[in-house]
Amino acid sequence: MKKVQKTIELWELTMDELSPDQYKVVKEAEEALKSSYAPYSHFPVGAAILLKNGSIIKGSNQENAAYPSGLCAERTALFHYGAGQYNSEIDSIAVVVEKEKEGEFPFPCGSCLQVMVEFAQRQTSPYNILLYHRKSGKVLMSNTVENMLPFAFRKEHLPG
Ligand code: THU
Repeated sequence: MKKVQKTIELWELTMDELSPDQYKVVKEAEEALKSSYAPYSHFPVGAAILLKNGSIIKGSNQENAAYPSGLCAERTALFHYGAGQYNSEIDSIAVVVEKEKEGEFPFPCGSCLQVMVEFAQRQTSPYNILLYHRKSGKVLMSNTVENMLPFAFRKEHLPG
């Protein structure tokens, strides 16, 4: 038997340690909470994507009476980016939730991480994930999506 290990690296920062653009994207994710449609879970989530050209794309969770038809905030923002013919790569994605727990950062779900991995594969360099905890003013940052989903399913796993 052989132990298989991967090391992940995350950074905890205070808001004043963020670059001005990162600060902006975190605040835009917070702003995106206002457009959340979460009448079923009552759990609003906001996301915002910072592009390398400085543009920002916002997303929020959009629920539906047919529960599985709804979509998370991160994927709403990412698919908007994917469909939008933006001629700039992703620099960072920020996530925030309205109902925070003490000492807990807003971790994206597995499906959102899976989608994040493929968007990262489509560009020339990785992008940052910024998980913003409003009450403490702290941000948990990962410099690559792989840090958060080390064994993602990739197109290389498909046959042919
Ligand atoms: N949600 C997100 O928007 N992002 C995540 O990464 C986790 C969950 C949403 C989906 C649903 O609208 C609500 O939070 C409760 O699960």
